[in-house]
Amino acid sequence: MAKGLEFGKNSAMVDPKELMQKLVSLCKRRGFIFQSSEVYGGLNSCYDYGPLGTELKNNLKRRWMESMTRDFEDIEPLDSSILMHPKIWEASGHVANFTDPLVDCKTCKARFRADQLETSSCGQKPSKSPKNCGGELTAPRMFNLMFKTFMGPVEDSSAVVYLRPETAQGIYVNFLNVMNTSRQKIPLGIAQIGKAFRNEITPGNFVFRMREFEQMEMQYFVKPGTDSEQFERWKEIRLNWHLENGLKKEKLRFHQHGPNELAHYAKAAFDIQYEFPFGWQEIEGIHNRSDFDLKQHEQHSGKKLSVFDEATKSAFVPFIIETSVGCDRSLLTLLVDAYDEETVAGDEEGPRVVLRFHPRIAPLKACIFPLTKKEGQPERAQKIFDEIKKHWRVQMDESGSIGKRYRRADEAGAPFCMTVDQEAGSVTIRDRDSMKQERVGDTQVLEYLKKRINL
Ligand code: GAP
Repeated sequence: MAKGLEFGKNSAMVDPKELMQKLVSLCKRRGFIFQSSEVYGGLNSCYDYGPLGTELKNNLKRRWMESMTRDFEDIEPLDSSILMHPKIWEASGHVANFTDPLVDCKTCKARFRADQLETSSCGQKPSKSPKNCGGELTAPRMFNLMFKTFMGPVEDSSAVVYLRPETAQGIYVNFLNVMNTSRQKIPLGIAQIGKAFRNEITPGNFVFRMREFEQMEMQYFVKPGTDSEQFERWKEIRLNWHLENGLKKEKLRFHQHGPNELAHYAKAAFDIQYEFPFGWQEIEGIHNRSDFDLKQHEQHSGKKLSVFDEATKSAFVPFIIETSVGCDRSLLTLLVDAYDEETVAGDEEGPRVVLRFHPRIAPLKACIFPLTKKEGQPERAQKIFDEIKKHWRVQMDESGSIGKRYRRADEAGAPFCMTVDQEAGSVTIRDRDSMKQERVGDTQVLEYLKKRINL
């Protein structure tokens, strides 16, 4: 039997070079993530979440929104539209600045980001970079990442609208609406989860870089002068949030943006990075955006976006501290962190594949197995199932050997499996990670799970 592993610890049996491939295959096999439009050959950089992936993503989004709006009384939720007035993107700087340098290879016709040539590989000679594969590259040209479409029946330049490349701008232009209707004062946070779209030149690494993705962004409006302190405060809060989802501490770090990396709106910026099998990469950005955005919107809309300070009897434009995390990227960290393979002595099924999600984030909290179809076991299992399904997503599994049912539950990352057997009045509950089993009374199951899930 495996030794009692704690949540978040894995057995290091998996070669990091193979991990992404194994994960993609597991995600498809078990219904976490599918390629979009698969029956038509797929659509590059777009993905669909299957049943388990949707549960996992919903848990992540719920945890994020609750941690924002319940833990902090000065944060309000918002759900703004994806299509917005095109002038918003002129004011925000996206029309002018949201560009990447693009180069084409005249030989193989592939496209690359000019600033990522060193780390890209040639389509025809994958072991070489496009710089030294012998192909001839065009001069770089700037490419705007925003998707354009037309509003209404006439497709001319006056009808152009953009699919938002970030959710943040919907928050800025609603800042006074939210503050006034919720009777809040500065400091005030506004939290929003929603889709964003970027016509990335080089999407890739599964759901790491997509063209349609989801962001969870919180904009915290503060008095100028308090911004640096609030920036430090939010850095710590956000790192802790990832740790509370069960991510390993040693896989997370801060990366400070140097002067050449800072976005056009940022006074200071730190990324929270995670060590993926393909290297350390950003999963969340924490930015001190100063009063750049609100001042830009004041200027372009002609409307005042300042607040009145009763103490000094003067108006000011708030500074904004932004925390912006990609939902899909964050979900990928959960999968990478949780994936494990383990040899179980004496188990004929071979090494087990297990997703060691923290119980609070796991898509399925428990699986229930009636051992046989006799002695009222299915009915007892159904009764327990009906009680706990009111609280969490749980699954009944009645087919195959118990060993096979455990394997299915392990791959889904269910932290608890309970078997209803011939012993009336109690079930065995098996811990996914230690594989230890305990006997718990039928009527005690709910309390047991509550204690173990809400650690
Ligand atoms: N409002 C600020 C902003 O959008 P960003 O650093 O460009 O900042 C924030 O994006 C987060 O959104 C990133 O840390 C990442 O998690 C996620 N993200 C950005 N582009 C993405 C893409 N193409 N695919 C998946 N997630 C993406």
